[in-house]
Amino acid sequence: MKVLAINGSPHKKGNTYHALNVMKEKLEEQGIEVEIFDLGNKPIRGCTGCGACAKNKDKKCIFSDDVVNEGIQKMEEADGIILGSPVHFSAMSGAMKSFLDRAFYVQGSNGGMFRHKVGCSVAVVRRSGEVATFDQLNHYLLYSEMIVPSGNYWAAIHGRTPGEVLQDKEGVQTLQVLANNMAWIMKVIDQSNIVPPARVNKEWTHFIR
Ligand SMILES: Cc1cc2nc3c(=O)[nH]c(=O)nc-3n(C[C@H](O)[C@H](O)[C@H](O)COP(=O)(O)O)c2cc1C
Repeated sequence: MKVLAINGSPHKKGNTYHALNVMKEKLEEQGIEVEIFDLGNKPIRGCTGCGACAKNKDKKCIFSDDVVNEGIQKMEEADGIILGSPVHFSAMSGAMKSFLDRAFYVQGSNGGMFRHKVGCSVAVVRRSGEVATFDQLNHYLLYSEMIVPSGNYWAAIHGRTPGEVLQDKEGVQTLQVLANNMAWIMKVIDQSNIVPPARVNKEWTHFIR
């Protein structure tokens, strides 16, 4: 089994990386392979709402000049997904927002590509804004019928200079508990022979009636 951990920070080896690495170590102890996927610091365009992904049904965003399509493919191949973002003005990073808007629009309009995968979120923060960010990240998972494990607190970890988060002992423990729960539920799903519910066609009412 494999987990893809998305690093929404422009810093390859910043605190978000270190937070994801805490989870990576725990997941690997449970025999689960983990790849950390960096969004990097190159521009990522936001979703233009063009609808090409729904029309083409090719599991791709029409814009192929950034990391989004590579990330979508890796997420589809993974059994579990971790969304890790630094807190920027009490929100996820701009790159993470652009990436997730496009990736999850593609997955939704291509039959629910991430449906029933296990997914969780981590907010990485100096001081405050972490709960709002954690909430925003979870919206993507909860909208797409993913299975969301929990930890023993809201998954946030505190630090400013790269690696400082490792001094947040409570934050480290929270992420370790979350990783263990993630590994457990992935194994439960993997070993279960109970047939999951079929996907229903969504009702679109737009609140006009
Ligand atoms: C543009 C920007 C906005 C930020 N906004 C906040 C904030 O609202 N609250 C906070 O506590 N820290 C804020 N920070 C600090 C980062 O969340 C913190 O340093 C984090 O550890 C960075 O993670 P990284 O090393 O993975 O990029 C901000 C940093 C940047 C660059």
